[in-house]
Amino acid sequence: HEYNTTGITDSKFGLTRTTWDEAVATALAAPNLNVDGLHFHLGSQILEIDPYRKAIEVMLSYAAEIKQQHGFEIKILSIGGGFGVRYTMDEDPPPIAAWAEIISDEITRRCHDLKLSLPRLIIEPGRAIVARAGTALYRVGVIKDIPGIRRYVCVDGGMGDNIRYPMYGARQEALVANRAAANATGRVTVAGKYCESGDILIKEVELADVKTGDILAVAGSGAYCIPMQSNYNASRRPPIVFVRDGKARLVRRRETLEDLTRCDTA
Ligand SMILES: Cc1ncc(COP(=O)(O)O)c(C=O)c1O
Repeated sequence: HEYNTTGITDSKFGLTRTTWDEAVATALAAPNLNVDGLHFHLGSQILEIDPYRKAIEVMLSYAAEIKQQHGFEIKILSIGGGFGVRYTMDEDPPPIAAWAEIISDEITRRCHDLKLSLPRLIIEPGRAIVARAGTALYRVGVIKDIPGIRRYVCVDGGMGDNIRYPMYGARQEALVANRAAANATGRVTVAGKYCESGDILIKEVELADVKTGDILAVAGSGAYCIPMQSNYNASRRPPIVFVRDGKARLVRRRETLEDLTRCDTA
């Protein structure tokens, strides 16, 4: 998606190619800076390894140019984060071993060809670590059927705790948690409780016959949900519970009305 792609020319992030030479020369000449190496970050939820291969080729060729021009050899190469995870049944990201093997092989081969010493490799995975560790639980409220058009299943959360669909058109899978073994019976759209038409949690998902009062479990809610939460519509943010070996532990309590007015001074 346009909003989670960063490694392109038309982006507010990073240095444009035309400014690299000046940036490197300035940093190397600055008495108060120690230059260690190069960094890139391509974007997020990337499901192919090829963009990393291409970026490594570009960055290491540039590292060879820097060596030739300045006699400085990079000690560190950071390839950023972005490693995609499986959110939906039809997504098929490469296994972690494949990322590791192809990326390290590419760096080794390019460094050998360019006569560069192997830099220390840094990776910055975020989503790949936590996305699938989190499941969001919602209570089903109103169900609105628009015959021939769509069935909206409204829940007691939404863009205040997960803004990924409105921002990126992100997709996730869900399950009626209190009837987890039931087979899916139809496609629904899961909508939030906030006062925005764009407050959609999942646009079209296969669900078992769902009723008001059911608990909906939305998988893959461990990344980019809690850090992007808001108190929109003066809603209170939900609690966070860690679960391990059948034991549950509250790690953040549900917000209260007092929490919402905590910073008010008059
Ligand atoms: C510089 C940098 N590195 C790493 C990450 C983590 O990305 P991801 O969660 O897609 O692995 C981000 C995310 O915004 C970032 O800006």
